Amino acid sequence: MMFLLLSVLRVMWNRATVCSRGRLAPSTSCPLLPSTLHRVFHRERQDLCHGRGPVSPLCRGHGPVSPLCHSEGPASPLCHGQGPGRAPAALPCRSLSSRAKSQQAAKRYPLLDGRIRSVFRHVFEENLRNSEAVIKRYSELLEMFSKGGGENAILRHTQRNKKLFVRERLKLLLDDESFLELSPLAGLNMPYGDIPAAGCLTGIGKICGVWCVFMANDATVKGGTIYPIGVKKQLRAQEIAMQNRLLSVYLVDSGGAFLPLQSELFPDKLHGGRVFYNEAIMSAMRIPQVAVVCGSCVAGGAYVPTMAEEAVIIDKIGTLFLAGPPLVKAATGEYVSPEDLGGAKLHTEVSGCSDHFASSEKEAYECIRNVISTLNYDPLPEDITEHDNPLYSPDELLGLAPRDYRCTLPVKLILSRLMDGSRFQEFKANYGTTLVTGFGHVEGHLVGIVANNGELSHDASLKGSHFVQLCSQRSIPILFFQNTAPPIAEPTSISQAEAHSNRLKAQASMMAAVACSAVPKITIVIGGCYGSESYVMCGRSFSPNFLFLWPNARVALMDSRHFSTVPQAGDSDCTGDESELKHLKKKLEEESSAFYSSARLWDDGVILPQNTRKVIAQCLEIMEQQKYQVISPWQYPVIRV
Ligand code: COA
Repeated sequence: MMFLLLSVLRVMWNRATVCSRGRLAPSTSCPLLPSTLHRVFHRERQDLCHGRGPVSPLCRGHGPVSPLCHSEGPASPLCHGQGPGRAPAALPCRSLSSRAKSQQAAKRYPLLDGRIRSVFRHVFEENLRNSEAVIKRYSELLEMFSKGGGENAILRHTQRNKKLFVRERLKLLLDDESFLELSPLAGLNMPYGDIPAAGCLTGIGKICGVWCVFMANDATVKGGTIYPIGVKKQLRAQEIAMQNRLLSVYLVDSGGAFLPLQSELFPDKLHGGRVFYNEAIMSAMRIPQVAVVCGSCVAGGAYVPTMAEEAVIIDKIGTLFLAGPPLVKAATGEYVSPEDLGGAKLHTEVSGCSDHFASSEKEAYECIRNVISTLNYDPLPEDITEHDNPLYSPDELLGLAPRDYRCTLPVKLILSRLMDGSRFQEFKANYGTTLVTGFGHVEGHLVGIVANNGELSHDASLKGSHFVQLCSQRSIPILFFQNTAPPIAEPTSISQAEAHSNRLKAQASMMAAVACSAVPKITIVIGGCYGSESYVMCGRSFSPNFLFLWPNARVALMDSRHFSTVPQAGDSDCTGDESELKHLKKKLEEESSAFYSSARLWDDGVILPQNTRKVIAQCLEIMEQQKYQVISPWQYPVIRV
């Protein structure tokens, strides 16, 4: 009782402090709680009255069942989550004080011993040298891509076309400069060349206190035209928006399809048209989408803002048309200026393809911020409960990030540098020890941890399966720390074959538990992402909400060092020709790097080991936002008229 009183007083105190700093308007609905929480409590009470358990408000039937549930549309967290027939990946509503209570409990969790023993020093140093080298390469690549299409293209964009560079635009749009950029290395070394950031920046940042996904074309990269990798990047950003119910903002400055690659962009299901299809589906899911026309938007580039629920167009900078003046001239012999063909006045006064006229870029982003404030979204309440930092330096993670699988050190050394207060409530500590499972906090968020600590044995897999089900039962997000072993040699005896099939059965059990678990999941590849064990550890095909790699990570079906030992039965070309084998080995080596993976969007980006805690905390906060949304019963997309 005393604790409850203290919690209430604490919320009052926090709220009073926040209000006095002018960050939250005083609530009229409830003297103690921000209005969103008030609604959440109200909803929870209603559920209890109707005998419903802590079912997510997202999937509750307000009226007729949504056609989305039966469609073959994108994996909607509302109805089919990350796979067919899935429950929603959502958390039950929770009060602030429950988080505070859980943090109090965390202080009683046992301490992890993160000291690095002298016997590990040699491996630690080797890992450290490797981490420094890959991080240097990572910084160079980031620096190269941050310049978009290069200095000349930026000059043309800013001086001749009088537009702001895409990163300047984001500064005006977002509350502050820090945001979670997704897949910044996408487009590196494609078969069709380097396409900096795939020609389109995507990420998650706060606008008016609300976490939003943004997709912003970079017109310095071939006029913002869309490459195959650009389509993939936009689709992934939309998937994240759907999975986490995040408002989406499109900054459109695009010449449409990159025509020489049209066959890889246009006809298939997950090609360009899917972006427009998703816009309608997202709108029907009540995920608002707004757009700014901040450049010449041609063909495919014109559909994005036109399909958005609200669009702003900038005078003398934004144009929208299916074919530009040169094509009109070629077809009709008539010259028409871009402004007359599809400028801001035309689209806000005549066609209705845009809703707001802005006379400058600055005005356009201010307008978008105003639009967002009309969405009836409340910002995530500021939960000011304190948390402890880990007892060990995150910089030491560089020496714990394995150079290769053989340089793996006990994973608890890594956990001790990531968990609040280095505290961890381990589950089945002495059983299946090649997988570490248990509970801890990251910046105050309670999480379940599943971390490789060796090969995924039979017992380890059963333990993983059990633990994942516990987290699902308790609605606790799961963090997978993946460092899977390269596939081992084929069995050479009956008993080995028996052991293999038993292990396979246990891994299948864990795979099913992971696939069907409806709680949010984040996967961090801290070392190897090899073979089928990577599926069990919630690899990309198991749809974690987010998946990041450390720069030392290796992603491949098998380890290139094992290549020559693989049986080559019947493949005389390979076995006979040593230089070809060498070539294949080199190819496998290159294709296994974290940068190769990130360039192809097999993940959501490379993150530095020492930033892992911050990124995880940010993702947890982003995923939590949906708990505080009010979902209206409206089930149809907003259709532009
Ligand atoms: N496909 C392939 N390349 C394209 C392209 C397209 N759709 N649109 C533009 N580019 C290339 C240009 O050839 C140029 O390449 P370069 O730098 O190697 O010379 C580069 O992108 C920049 O184009 P540029 O016209 O110099 O820049 P801009 O800023 O003045 O204009 C556009 C950009 C996009 C408005 C203009 O190029 C345009 O209208 N393109 C045609 C768009 C189109 O018809 N799309 C139909 C898609 S179905």
